[in-house]
Amino acid sequence: MTHPDLSIIVAVDRDGGIGRAGDLLYHISADLRRFKQLTMGHPVIMGRRTFESLPKGALPGRRNIVISRNAAYTAPGIEVAGSLDEALAMTAGTGEAFVIGGASIYAESMSVAARIYLTEVDAAAEADTYFPPIGPEWHHTDESATETDPRSGISYRFVTLSRE
Ligand SMILES: NC(=O)c1ccc[n+]([C@@H]2O[C@H](COP(=O)([O-])OP(=O)(O)OC[C@H]3O[C@@H](n4cnc5c(N)ncnc54)[C@H](OP(=O)(O)O)[C@@H]3O)[C@@H](O)[C@H]2O)c1
Repeated sequence: MTHPDLSIIVAVDRDGGIGRAGDLLYHISADLRRFKQLTMGHPVIMGRRTFESLPKGALPGRRNIVISRNAAYTAPGIEVAGSLDEALAMTAGTGEAFVIGGASIYAESMSVAARIYLTEVDAAAEADTYFPPIGPEWHHTDESATETDPRSGISYRFVTLSRE
């Protein structure tokens, strides 16, 4: 069943890589700004490792829901859910919610999310974490022009996809 209010947001490189050693592969300021703009005021749902990768802990201005099998897991500013389903139940009826990673939570949410806000990074780095393949049921509804990050010289574009 599609959750019309559930969106995935992710930055993926040419090989589908999303992370290495618990960190992002690329730090593109415009992408981080867009992430903040889109998610501000909305619940963000993430795996426990993605939460622990956040440099300053819970993201301000957003309800932070962290998925863990450890019911005793706790940290300032978060709520813990035992599964994606539980996280979805916690955010039901509250408007758009964002799945912000990592790999297993993305994989699970692909079959229920309505939208993917994708940043396509035109680079390839050695990754240890990958986004699942995007199936033919997803189609582009919006694409930005390709831009180049002035600091790193890396090109990227923003694509929005919806599921049929
Ligand atoms: N490029 C991007 O846009 C992006 C976005 C997010 C993250 N990342 C990168 O991705 C990496 C982290 O992702 P990851 O895939 O390693 O970890 P993750 O998905 O963030 O977290 C994995 C943890 O989530 C919990 N979990 C996962 N599935 C569960 C389930 N079905 N039920 C209950 N708990 C579940 C478990 O926590 P417990 O072990 O506590 O039980 C598991 O160890 C980092 O490198 C990060 O920088 C990249």
